[in-house]
Amino acid sequence: MSKIKFYTDLNVPLEMHKVRIVQKLELLPVEARVRSIREAGFNTFLLQNKDVYLDMLTDSGVNAMSDKQQAAMFTADDAYAGSTTFTRLQKKLEELFKMKYFLPTHQGRAAENIICLGLSNEGQCCLMNYHFTTMKAHLVSQGATICECMAPEGIEVRSNNPFKGNADLKMMREEIESQGRENICFVRMEAGTNLIGGQPFSLANLRSVRDICVEYGLPLVLDASLLADNLFFIKRREEECKDWSIREITAAIADCCDVIYFSARKLGFARGGGICVREESMYRALRGHVAMYEGFLTYGGMSVREMEAITIGLEETMDEDYIRQSPEFIEYMVNALVKRGIPVVTPAGGLGVHLNAMEFVEHIPQTQYPACALAAACYISGGIRGMERGTLSEQRNPDGSEPLANMELLRLALPRRVFTLSQVEYAIDRIVWLYDQRKKISGLRWVEEPEILRFFFGRLEPFNDWPEELAEQFRKDFGDSL
Ligand SMILES: Cc1ncc(COP(=O)(O)O)c(C=O)c1O
Repeated sequence: MSKIKFYTDLNVPLEMHKVRIVQKLELLPVEARVRSIREAGFNTFLLQNKDVYLDMLTDSGVNAMSDKQQAAMFTADDAYAGSTTFTRLQKKLEELFKMKYFLPTHQGRAAENIICLGLSNEGQCCLMNYHFTTMKAHLVSQGATICECMAPEGIEVRSNNPFKGNADLKMMREEIESQGRENICFVRMEAGTNLIGGQPFSLANLRSVRDICVEYGLPLVLDASLLADNLFFIKRREEECKDWSIREITAAIADCCDVIYFSARKLGFARGGGICVREESMYRALRGHVAMYEGFLTYGGMSVREMEAITIGLEETMDEDYIRQSPEFIEYMVNALVKRGIPVVTPAGGLGVHLNAMEFVEHIPQTQYPACALAAACYISGGIRGMERGTLSEQRNPDGSEPLANMELLRLALPRRVFTLSQVEYAIDRIVWLYDQRKKISGLRWVEEPEILRFFFGRLEPFNDWPEELAEQFRKDFGDSL
């Protein structure tokens, strides 16, 4: 890690890379932004990217590639079977995770599908620190259930707990005892726990989870999609690991697990995914599903160019200078918002900044999707596209009732190596303005509600003309500014 101090009292995160390919951005006038969000049914997933200034929807598949990744893509060995590109990727994963077997998939949720098909049965329960939308959907479609073993402070918005993603060990043990070992399919730990604000687990906690798994003979499955952030936080926040290299921390994490799966749209700055497996018997149990749903075992739905990029990207993940950039920008943004009294999830996590909609727009009831309304308002205020992570991202219960989410968050993702600090400053400025106008924002109701993963393509409408009123206020305050 390079330690660079400023001569003046400036204290900003400093990038250890430069930008050599750029993409022109547009910022529509505020009135056009209102039209766009209406056309998108107040769902930021349905906005056209050309109408977005800062795309903070996700870090998935939109991280910036390095020169080395781009160069490696030209050396890809295009073969259906036995490509050397695949062997390079498999060897890199084996070197980092010390697991012999690798099953490629086209992205993270495909890996989840294969794992659920191979390792879960109807009526079984998957214990986890916290759920992720697509993993939960796959388990449910297998007739399995989930049980989140997380201490209450994991879902407290404001906290000093450096490891809010930790599993509650007592609860995990109690669940295994009360449900019976045979009714648990596997234990899943998610690195950089997405839905609670990109919060990490500690190595100590993972080791204890591993001990429980060994005691009961349960497989420990790691979702490593957000591993890069978790590695950085362990290095920064866990005393035992402060002098360890990122590679050593990676090996210690992997050593606890039986299976490691990931979305390479997040881990490895590319696109794709896969499953690393320790035991041959488990590999054999899963590989037929890969051949059936993803492709042959040496590409699994990925292009060879992407596989080359992942191999390099995984190596770059071992470079603290690269992986610190995104969490440091997030911390910078979180600190600036906290200073102005704006409710955000603390401590700063990975992936993005998470505005707490339950406080930001406390006048909107959860049944009117406050985080979704805030996402729409944020787009209107600055052409900034975030993602609702709250009740709307949940699925209805089988009886049609609405399970209210533990947290109502607007996630503003900071894809890795993509934005500049002045763009982050712009986002802070528009959020500060929006906070002053928060009473103008109202709730939303469904126009079209899909049954599965409704947050992706559902359409909503406002109860009144609050979007137009917000735009009018913008004109008053900003004049002819975009
Ligand atoms: C923690 C986690 N797991 C799995 C996935 C699914 O990955 P993909 O989008 O590549 O299907 C994601 C994607 O956002 C994620 O954040």
